[in-house]
Amino acid sequence: MATQNELKRLAAQKATQWVPEGEYIGVGTGSTVQFFIEALAQSGKQIKGAVSTSHGTSEALKRFGIPEILLSEVHGLSVYVDGADEVNHLLQMIKGGGGALLNEKIVASAAEQFICIADESKYVARLGRFPLPVEVIPNARSLVARQMVKLGGQPDLRLNFTSDNGHQILDVSGLLIDEPIKMEDTINAIPGVVDNGLFAHRPADLLVLARQGGVEILRAQV
Ligand code: A5P
Repeated sequence: MATQNELKRLAAQKATQWVPEGEYIGVGTGSTVQFFIEALAQSGKQIKGAVSTSHGTSEALKRFGIPEILLSEVHGLSVYVDGADEVNHLLQMIKGGGGALLNEKIVASAAEQFICIADESKYVARLGRFPLPVEVIPNARSLVARQMVKLGGQPDLRLNFTSDNGHQILDVSGLLIDEPIKMEDTINAIPGVVDNGLFAHRPADLLVLARQGGVEILRAQV
């Protein structure tokens, strides 16, 4: 039986086939993405450069000799590749377990195609078992936490953590996320919230899902 890391690596390797040569791509954050960066370097594919979403990803790009470019220096990205903490049949996701959700959402929004890479444990019938990361302005932390309780959630401040953009994160468990788009909007409308880890407005276009029986390619089932 393959381990979770072996499955992550398989999904990451498979995803390299959607990387176009000679273009700029966006790269997310997390352990699956680390496997992807390694696989991309080993594939020998030549891209013009990659937009990074975190310090960790930038370090990996550098380690594997993939040139980094700032989002502000490109007009758009053909492809964005990233992992997820949970993904459903509509390819809506919860992200931000690694704390990079804001940059991830920004860079993903610039891409024509979002390719999600994941092992089978991430594929869920309903989003919400994984605590939803909510990035907040530090001053507004308690205010936002009280609003999260009103929405039915239990917020926990992520300890000893500051995002790359200088914010804090509340990990909110217990939310009933039957309508992910509505929940994404409701939380983002609370003053002091910078963004939240629901990627429902901008779901993935393709899910490369590594299962024990092999790698599956899924598109949104509407
Ligand atoms: C990073 O902020 C997250 O959005 C990651 O995409 C997510 O946590 C997946 O991480 P792993 O690939 O490490 O499971």
